[in-house]
Amino acid sequence: MPSEEFIVTPWEVEGHVDYGKLITLFGTQPIDDHILGRFKKLTGSIPLMLRRKIFFSQRDLNWILDCYEAGQRFVLYTGRGPSGHTHLGHLMPWVFTKYLQDSFGADLYFQLTDDEKFLQKDPLSMHMVRGFSYDNALDVIALGFDPQKTRIFLDTEYVHTLYPIALEVSKRVTFSAARAVFGFDVSTNVGMISFTSMQSAPAFLPSIEAGRNVPVLIPCAIDQDPHFRVTRDVAPKMGYYKPALIHSRFFPSLLGQDKMSASLPETSIFTTDDPDEARRKIANAFTGGRATVREQRELGGTPDVCTIYQYAFYLFEEDDRRAFELREECLTGARACGTCKKELADKVVAFLEDHQRKREQAKDRLEDFMVRDC
Ligand code: TRP
Repeated sequence: MPSEEFIVTPWEVEGHVDYGKLITLFGTQPIDDHILGRFKKLTGSIPLMLRRKIFFSQRDLNWILDCYEAGQRFVLYTGRGPSGHTHLGHLMPWVFTKYLQDSFGADLYFQLTDDEKFLQKDPLSMHMVRGFSYDNALDVIALGFDPQKTRIFLDTEYVHTLYPIALEVSKRVTFSAARAVFGFDVSTNVGMISFTSMQSAPAFLPSIEAGRNVPVLIPCAIDQDPHFRVTRDVAPKMGYYKPALIHSRFFPSLLGQDKMSASLPETSIFTTDDPDEARRKIANAFTGGRATVREQRELGGTPDVCTIYQYAFYLFEEDDRRAFELREECLTGARACGTCKKELADKVVAFLEDHQRKREQAKDRLEDFMVRDC
C-alpha cells in the first residue's frame, strides 16, 4: 500500500489516516467554529476533545442542538466491541460521552456487541466475549456515568428487545448494499453480513420505548460511520429520525501507527495494566526525537509524529497553553524525550491508580447499570 493510502472500515484501519480526506470520502461534515460556539453557549465551555478537534466530524449535529434548544431531549447511544481489555483509546469517546450526558442531561444506551466480536474474531468463544463484556462494562461505570440515566447491555442478553428491531433493519438492507459499505467478499461468514442490523437497533429503541420519535446522538470513532450510514438509510423507511453522529479520530498507538490495536499489548496501555507495565510501555514508545540528545538540542524534535506528545494532546494535558509550550519546546530542541516520557508516565500512572480504584468499586454497582431481557 503506498504511504499516502489508507483504509478505514469498522474491522480494519490501516495506513496513515488523512482525516480531512475521510470527511470527503464518507460524506460527513467537519466540526466548525460555529458548532464550537454553540457548545460554548449551551454548556458554558468547550471540552478539550472539541477544542482540539479530536472529535472532528459529524452528521446532523446542528439538528441535535436545535432540538435541545427547542426543549426536546436527545438520547446518547454508543458502544464497544468486547474483544479484549479496555485501553486508553477506548476510554476517549466514553469520556466525551460522559461530558455530553452531564451537560445535556441525556440518557445513554451503551451496547456491548458480544455477537459481533464472536463472529469477527476467530479465536474468541462466546464465553470469552461475554467475559470481556463485563470486564469492559466496569471501565464504563468507573468513568462516573449516572446509573439513573445509563443502561448497558450485551447483545446476546438483550436480544428479545433488540432482535425484532434488527429484523426490521435487515429486511431493508440488501447484500449488495452491505457489501458496498463494508467490503465483504464471498469468504465473509453470513453472521457478519447481517450483524450491522444489531448495531442499528439501539438507535431506534428510544423512539420505540417513548412511542414517538426521539432524537439520538451517537458519539463514536470514525471507523463506525459505515454502520450508521446503513442505520440512517433505513431510518426514514422505518418511520424514525436518522440518528446524528459525532466522530472521533483514533487514539495513537504507542508504536506509532494510527490506531491502537487491542491485539498487540505493547501498542496500548490497558486500564488493567499495573503502573510498572505502563511506565515500561511509555519508556519504549515511539517518539519524534532525534538519535542523540545533542542532535535533539540542535535540530529539535517532531512532536506531530510523537506518540508521547499525542497522548498529552489527546488526554493528559488539559491546559492548552501548556500543550502548546510542550510542542514549542520540542520543536526548538529545549526538551528531551526522557523528560516528556517521565512527565507523561507520572500522569498516566496517577490516572490508572484512580481509575483502577473506581473500577474495583464498579464491581458492586454493575447491576445498577446492566439490563437483560432473557
Ligand atoms: N462495533 C463497535 C466496536 O467494534 C461497538 C459499537 C456498538 C459501537 N454500537 C456502537 C461503537 C455505537 C460506537 C457507537 O467497537
